Formats: sequence, structure tokens, C-alpha cells
Amino acid sequence: MSTAFDTTASKSEVYQPSREILESVQASDYLELREEALQDPLSFWDRQAKELLDWYEPYQQIFDDSNRPFFKWFTGGKINVVHNALDRHVKSWRKNKLALIWEAEDGEQRTYSYFKLWKEVNRFANILKSMGVKKGDTVTIYMGRVPEMPIAMLATAKIGAIHSVVYGGFSEQALADRIDDAKSKVVVTCDGSWLRGKTVNLKDIVDEAIARSPVVQRVIVLKRTGQEVNMVPDRDFWWHELAALPIAGPYCETEPMDAEDPMFILYTSGTTGKPKGLMHSCGGYLVHIAATLKYAFDTREDDRWWCAADPGWITGHSYIVYAPLILGLTSFMYEGAPGYPYPDRWWQQVEKYGITLLYTAPTAIRGLMRFGDAWPARHDLSSLRILGTVGEPINPEAWRWYNVNIGKERCPIIDTWWQTETGGFMITPTPIIPLKPGSATLPFAGVEADVVREDGSSCNPDEDGYLVIKHPVPGMARTIWGDPDRFVQTYWSDFEKQGWYFSGDSARKDEDNYFWIIGRMDDVIKVSGYRLGTAEVESALVSHHAVAEAACIGVPDELRGNVIRAYCILTAGVSGSESLEDELKAHVRHEVGPIAVPASIEFVDSLPKTRSGKIMRRLLKAKVLGQPVGDTSTLEA
Ligand code: PRX
Repeated sequence: MSTAFDTTASKSEVYQPSREILESVQASDYLELREEALQDPLSFWDRQAKELLDWYEPYQQIFDDSNRPFFKWFTGGKINVVHNALDRHVKSWRKNKLALIWEAEDGEQRTYSYFKLWKEVNRFANILKSMGVKKGDTVTIYMGRVPEMPIAMLATAKIGAIHSVVYGGFSEQALADRIDDAKSKVVVTCDGSWLRGKTVNLKDIVDEAIARSPVVQRVIVLKRTGQEVNMVPDRDFWWHELAALPIAGPYCETEPMDAEDPMFILYTSGTTGKPKGLMHSCGGYLVHIAATLKYAFDTREDDRWWCAADPGWITGHSYIVYAPLILGLTSFMYEGAPGYPYPDRWWQQVEKYGITLLYTAPTAIRGLMRFGDAWPARHDLSSLRILGTVGEPINPEAWRWYNVNIGKERCPIIDTWWQTETGGFMITPTPIIPLKPGSATLPFAGVEADVVREDGSSCNPDEDGYLVIKHPVPGMARTIWGDPDRFVQTYWSDFEKQGWYFSGDSARKDEDNYFWIIGRMDDVIKVSGYRLGTAEVESALVSHHAVAEAACIGVPDELRGNVIRAYCILTAGVSGSESLEDELKAHVRHEVGPIAVPASIEFVDSLPKTRSGKIMRRLLKAKVLGQPVGDTSTLEA
């Protein structure tokens, strides 16, 4: 249970949709739709698949559960995301509509019409082909938050290759592990990225990662910062130089994909050090993300959508890149961090670009809230229509601040619960659902979720339990790349008898059946909404010569949700010091990335372990939080 906040405090606080919202909302029949979908989820998804997407060839079967839990959706159908996100729009009046507005940290601004984006994607798709990338190959993308990142993703998908985007905040070992696991022969990167006025040396990190994982044959480098980088002849190529060659022709055929062909892999943290590459498919994923965005945010043709995540996370994949383009929206993307270089940068951007829908994480809201109410008050935020949040439970205080200071008490707050594994929203309100601060409210139409006990029986109202999904939904990951057994073991074994998916989260439902997410039950820590496995940080620590053993836990933090606290047993002859603590922090930063750096490291002589040798992190945590330690019968004597 890893939340810093008491989310139960506000259960009686209910916000009814305003009359203005009720009168203006497009999907005013959502509740009936949801009711129908409860009875017949397949018909609901079938309708969405037909209404929202174009198929090259129609599917023969909506859902195939003949090989549980490797479920299939829309089998026999042929589709490509790029056909739906770009090709079809450039043939329509949307050709000249803005697809993407981008602002750099230094204020530079770029816009892409659907036509321009389509052109760039065609060109880069041809570049990838010229580098030998074929249908079914994997391409690792490791970039800053620049328009070329979605361009590289779309270009990969266009030719039927599989992208594996690695968040630009990860470092050498994390990148090497992911390249290695995906066996990517091609990596797309930047010379560097901008973060808070400083450059991050992405290309240097790629070079080091390749030295650790020599599967890579070609690296395409976008010039972003202009810093000095080492270009290896015949391996490394500048994007702009390739784009000037005849190989980068302006047209590339889009590859029709089988609905169940892999579309992308996205790595996320689990209970072991090895990252899990969740594999998403070409058909069901698109249906799920398009339908959820459309209903939850009641999207309209003239909306300006800002999902303030990074395209390198699932939030960015689904709701910066793919769903908004499928729906033909105009998206905004900002290169920098919230509140940089000044506290009202975001609010200035909302005003400047007339953002209507803003979707972000509680940690960003808490960070901006810290600067005070005066910053948003300087700006005209009246374009905003609907707000959203994702990634961790939102504490009621942050919810209210967001509601009053940003939404001016007129904008519903759409608290979306979902995961890398689910591909799209699972539990979420739409603007017509009454809201309770801190609750993601109700399962989306066509999603059957519940909170259950270990034996599978449903919990009583307000009883903590396991958050499960009782019937698969189209967007859920199909497997873990290269490790189907781990997929079964991780998600489908806890409730094997019932055939349910276990999310790894604990939650409770209240008397109105509203869901309240409590937090992760496994060894995953959410730091500033980012998901980290304790094992990843621990293996980085023990890779330092001074550390013999390490254990990490998440400790509640007012701003970041949780921070990491590490315990280290040092190798014989080494003694703990402040400078060693700093050195170990720098080491974790170098190996995994800045998000994984422990807030504090304690040097200890022993760690609590079970008799079979497993570290009992739960005991370390109980001690820090001053909580009862619970059952210690398996503790080593
Ligand atoms: O613990 C839940 C939390 O984030 C986890 C999934 O993390 P990740 O795969 O990185 O995806 C994040 C973006 C979808 C979940 O298991 N989580 C996500 N959304 C919420 C949440 N916790 C509470 N409320 C949410 N709205």
C-alpha cells in the first residue's frame, strides 16, 4: 500500500455534473451504453471497431478465447494504425488541419498539419526501409520529447515494424537491457535532449548501451541540441543527411497488418530486475484507445488536446500519439518539464494555444500547486473544458486545487485508472458521471472490473482487496515479449481458476460501487507517477563494488507520491559515509536514470529475509512507517 494520502477522507464529497456539461456533452447516452455493454461487451467493442476505424479487410470474429489467456480480438481483420491516424485524414478535409503543435523549452514553436505529418512519416518510413528494417523487425526509439519521436513511431508502424520506445530519462543499463531483449538492430535517437536548460547526452548513452548490447547495426541520430557526438562510420547516420537523400522518398505504402500482429513493445517494471516488454497488437489496441478517449473526454473536432506525458510511456503512446490522431484531433506537445523555466509556463501555454482538454499526472499538479494560486490566476484558462489525471491516486487536496484554480469549478476531472498492460483507460468517469475526488469512479463501458478477496469472492464496500479484470478487453497486452510464461505467471495465475486478470493493485469499492485505488501490492514503486521495480534499483546498487546486498522500498512523499529508500550491506572492509551515499546515488542515476535515484540510503549490517532468502521489504517498510509488522513467521531466525 504505497499512497501518501488518505484517499478515503473525501468519500462523501460528490461533484455532480453541471447543467452546462449535461447540456453540451455529446455522449449523453453513455450510461445506457455502459449498461448495454455490461450485458454484451462484445457488441459494444464491435460497434466501436466499426465506427471509429477503417479496416482494409473486415474481421471474422470479434473475440477468440480458444487459447486462454492469449486472447485474440478482431481476428482475420487487416488494419494499420497509420492508415487510420494519417492516410485517411489526408484524403479528407482534415488534410490541412493541425495534427500537432509543439513548443520547445526555449520557446521555438512548430506546427504540423495532417498532411505535413504524413509526409514526414512517409519519408522516415523510407529511411527505415533503407536501413534494412522490415515488417516484424523491432526498432528501439530513445529520444527527447520532440515531434520526430512520434514521427519515428508512426513510420515504424507504417512499414509493419515493431517499435520499442525507451523513455529518454533511462540510462545505460536500462537502455541496454531493453535493446537486448527486443533484439533491435536499429536505434533512433537524438544527439541530446533538453531538460531544464541542460542537455542530456542521449547519443553517448546509446553508445555505452550498444557496447553492452552489441545487437545494434544502425543508429539514426536526430540533431536536436547540436552538441558534439561521436559518430561511428557505417553504423551511425544523421537523420537530416538521410532525409536529403533520394532514398527518403515522399511516399511509402502503408503495410496492411493482421489485427493480432504485434504493433509495439513497451517495457515496464515488474517484480524482478528484468524489464517486461508488454506486447500490444494492431487491432484491439486501436479500438480500445480510440473509444476510451472519445467517451472519457467527450472529444470534439475543434478540441485542442494536451496530454502532458512523455510519448515514451504508455500514456504518451496511447494518448499523445495514436488515439488523438485516429480521432483527428489537434494535439499539443511541450518539450520541457512542468514549471520550467517559470512556474506559469503551462498556464501560459494553455492560454496561448487555447487548450480545451488537459490530461496530466497528480505529481505534476502537486508540483505546480506548490508555486501558489497566483500563477494560474495570471492567465485566461477559459478555453479549458475538461481536465484529466493519470498514473497514481490523486489526493483530494490536489484534486480540489486543480478543480478550483485550473478548471474554475466548471471542468470535470477525469481520473483514469489503467496500466501499460491494459493499453487504454479501464476505470474512468466521463463528463456526465458524478465525481468523488480521489476515485477513478466506474469501469469504462465494456470493462468488467472488481475488487476481490484472495479466494475470488467480491469484497464488501470499503474492504481492501485485489483489483481484477474479469473479462479481457481489446487493448490489453497480448504477451510479454519473448516470455509468454512470465505473462501467464504475472497476470493470470493469481486468479487462474476464475480466468481473471490481476492488475497488481489493491483497491476498494464504496457503497456506490466507485473504485478507490490504493496502490501496488507487488514490489513496484510509483515515483512521481513513474513505475519502478525495486529489483531494478537494487541490481544497480549491487553492481557497485562497495555494495554486497541491497533492498529498496517506497516511502510516501507529499510531492512525488513515493520516494525510494534504499538499504545497503556494504562489502567487507568498506564503511558507509555521506560521500559513499552520494557516489551510490550517482551510480544509480548512471545505470538506470534520474527517476530511480533513492532519496536516502541507509547502510545496514543485515536485511530481514525469509528462510528461503527473500528480502522482506514489507518489514522494512512497516518499520519506517511505524506500522505493525504483521506476520513474521517466515522470517529467518
Ligand atoms: O498503480 C496503478 C497506477 O499506475 C499503475 C500503472 O502504471 P503504468 O503501467 O506506468 O501506467 C501508468 C499510466 C497508465 C497502476 O497499476 N495508476 C495508474 N492510474 C491511476 C493509478 N493509480 C490510481 N489512480 C489512477 N488514476
